[in-house]
Amino acid sequence: MNAMNTKASDIVLFGCLGDLTRRKLLPSLYQLEKAGLFTQQSRIICVARDDIKQSDYLTSVADCLSEFIDEELASESIANLLAKITYLQLDLLNKEAFSALKTCIGDSDNSLINYFAVPAVIYGSICAGLAQHDLNHAQARVVLEKPIGSSLITSNEVNDEVAKYFTEQQTYRIDHYLGKETVLNLLDLRFANSLFSTKWDNTTIDHVQISVAEEVGIEGRWGYFDQAGQMRDMLQNHLIQILTLVAMDPPLSLDADNIRDEKVKVLKALKPITMANVFENTVRGQYIKGFLHGQQVPGYLDEEGANTQSNTESFVVVKAEIENWRWAGVPFYLRTGKRMANKVSEIVVYFKNPAHNLFSEYYRELPPNKLTIRLQPKEGIEIQMLNKVPGLTESQRLQTTKLDLSFNQAFDNLRIADAYERLMLEVINGNQALFVRRDEVEASWAWCDGILSAWKTTGQELATYTAGSSGPVASISLIARDGRAWDE
Ligand code: BG6
Repeated sequence: MNAMNTKASDIVLFGCLGDLTRRKLLPSLYQLEKAGLFTQQSRIICVARDDIKQSDYLTSVADCLSEFIDEELASESIANLLAKITYLQLDLLNKEAFSALKTCIGDSDNSLINYFAVPAVIYGSICAGLAQHDLNHAQARVVLEKPIGSSLITSNEVNDEVAKYFTEQQTYRIDHYLGKETVLNLLDLRFANSLFSTKWDNTTIDHVQISVAEEVGIEGRWGYFDQAGQMRDMLQNHLIQILTLVAMDPPLSLDADNIRDEKVKVLKALKPITMANVFENTVRGQYIKGFLHGQQVPGYLDEEGANTQSNTESFVVVKAEIENWRWAGVPFYLRTGKRMANKVSEIVVYFKNPAHNLFSEYYRELPPNKLTIRLQPKEGIEIQMLNKVPGLTESQRLQTTKLDLSFNQAFDNLRIADAYERLMLEVINGNQALFVRRDEVEASWAWCDGILSAWKTTGQELATYTAGSSGPVASISLIARDGRAWDE
């Protein structure tokens, strides 16, 4: 794809002084510019409350590109990007003030992309301000960042506010995991390879593990995180999105709604977790002080700004079951935590053993075949299989061997784009496939709310784990009760 087939857009970044804009959005726009994917007629309007001179803002953009882009910068691309940027001071709570935005945009034919990198409580006011000045016309889109609410009810409140002014077709809900190259590849891997498109079900698959381990702790976000916890911050969105892509049926086509229809079906088939079964199917944990790569790190309750009585989980495991023909009897173990030993996100699909063990004389039980999809770091795919050890003296000695496809090697060190670059490009091109439809959000919240409420009612205890470890012992017991173990 090149600049010929990307569309000219006016991108309005609400919250342009915030962390997300500085760390992710501006660097992504730079990469699109550098790749020639940004048409010359496109413009970027950076909006915030502060009174800042245009020249000072542009200097701060150049600084943040140097800070957050980990490669040598191309001066021509920086100059081209800066030439597209206008800083606009605006009070987002004042509808009348949006006339300044209207003037800034003028009579442009470009599509209008309103990116909300601000807290969801003000999405409604921004939408009202835009609508007051006809900036919600058919060519306008809104991009909503998470978290959108903290439950089904509160997320509906935000979505209802936005829906007063923008249709679902104009609304792009971000889950940045959907923009990660390896998550995108799930569709291709599953539906372009007959090896995986057939028998991807309970006849051959024993269980699936989806793990997202983070090294980071709270990173100064105590106020937000302590209200959310790892369940709302990571599982309700990122892990569940991965789950749907692993478990969905083939869509009719790659059309956005066909894909999302299939994802919703998976969400609706998730077996509810209630007071009656929450204890055996979930673990909640919180880290205590420990060491990460040789450095001492504080416990959750010792983090800056912490409430020392907090009962919030920084780690969670959920055993999910999908009640449909394809997946009956195949558990999906979801695991995510902060301050774990290493940053690793992976999907591991464990296959069933052959119905009859021909090698029982040598091996009472054969190690399973497994397919590992490494989302990050070292993106790639690995298949574990058994082979005979070669040699005259080796009668039937088997050894597990790995077919290891590292993307880096397979694609000749091709640069792997950041998720936000991909997502920004998809919004520009008006493709909603990588964005979360409202019914997906609702079904996912409905399921997670059940777990959160069961935790509350039963008072399920927090299991502690040492920072820098692989989580609480209870998480090992949960999977061990089923006769299985985590892939480490
Ligand atoms: C965000 C969460 O959505 O995802 C953060 O709010 C988390 O708490 C982050 O650290 C993880 O993203 P990534 O891309 O680094 O795995």
